[in-house]
Amino acid sequence: MEEHRDPGDGDRGVVRDIRCAGGIVTKRATVGRAKLLDEVAWLSRLPADVRGYFPRVLATRLGPTWAEYDMPYSPWPNLAQLLLDGQLSADDATTAVERILCMAFDRMYRRNTRPTPECFFRRNYLEKVERRMTVAEGASPRLDHLVRAPTLIVNGRTVDSPLRLIRRISTDEQLLGRLAAPRLGMVHGDLKFDNILLAPGPLEASSFLLLDPRGATFAGGAEGDYLDDIAKLRTSTLALYDLVRTGRMVVQVRGTRISTALDQAASPTAGVFAALDTALMGWMPAWAAARNDPQWRLRLSFLTPLLLLANAPFQLAPVTEQTETVALALFTAGAQQLQAATDPWSRGWQRASSN
Ligand SMILES: Nc1ncnc2c1ncn2[C@@H]1O[C@H](COP(=O)(O)OP(=O)(O)OP(=O)(O)O)[C@@H](O)[C@H]1O
Ligand SMILES: [Mg+2]
Repeated sequence: MEEHRDPGDGDRGVVRDIRCAGGIVTKRATVGRAKLLDEVAWLSRLPADVRGYFPRVLATRLGPTWAEYDMPYSPWPNLAQLLLDGQLSADDATTAVERILCMAFDRMYRRNTRPTPECFFRRNYLEKVERRMTVAEGASPRLDHLVRAPTLIVNGRTVDSPLRLIRRISTDEQLLGRLAAPRLGMVHGDLKFDNILLAPGPLEASSFLLLDPRGATFAGGAEGDYLDDIAKLRTSTLALYDLVRTGRMVVQVRGTRISTALDQAASPTAGVFAALDTALMGWMPAWAAARNDPQWRLRLSFLTPLLLLANAPFQLAPVTEQTETVALALFTAGAQQLQAATDPWSRGWQRASSN
């Protein structure tokens, strides 16, 4: 399948092409064709005890420049929408997310495990951010300006350029050793709330559907780091991705000074995300211990901002004032969190550069 991969696959955001007719949802890709075919292949190979949690592929059609697949339409509401509409209390949301993650830890993350290749973290996280920023260059002068700045001032605090921090990380072998996933296995790869449909009814027993699995990592392997799924959820629970995406984060940029503020009306939803984040961080020690992952906390603190930074330029499809604001907000959140993650290491870096 490698020969079908267009150069921009995985590097550039694409405009969604989903249509629904007669109880069938058709998902189509022109740009990102290889990515869609990875998704179809992954869905078609699912083991029996996991299959029911994902859409069933009914048909696949291929053209020279496009690919599409059909799946049954599910009437269940989207979890992101339920949260944004205030239709789930913090307790209900926590129950639903715990059920989904219990399934993932029990049935997915134990599967197809193998040792992590040496370059996995560098290629899938550090190089991914750099590549996506480079590909997006020119699309938004406002984002370019922030990406190029050596330092930013975010809500009054100085934050180093994330690209500079990424280059420092990539030269610190000791840190890279601690950031390496203990092993790889079956993961969803894009586990965010708008990719989850939740069946109505009592939450303790209700069903769910996980849409839009990535099917392959950025660097092309089929197996990934389970903590990538958790970090993706934290881009919502900690960095409020869903609220940012729907324009509830106000971003003001003056030179390299950025201020971000959440729309007041969104604070109850932000409260539910905060409760979810607390719950998630409460479950993680036991789940990580079961997976022999003593560095999970450090790893998660790096993975979350790196996902936010990789996602920022991806939003610019197409470039509008709204998608630009989303990109700026995600970039800013990623920059702040990467600064916080690297703070304990920066003294060592300063010593190394002054020697
Ligand atoms: N089988 C389905 N039944 C009902 N709704 C669906 C189905 N598949 C997709 N959708 C709706 O379409 C949206 C987009 O689908 P999907 O996530 O697969 O595509 P995408 O292009 O990758 O989107 P995104 O860029 O948001 O990840 C979903 O969030 C969901 O609301
Ligand atoms: Mg999706």
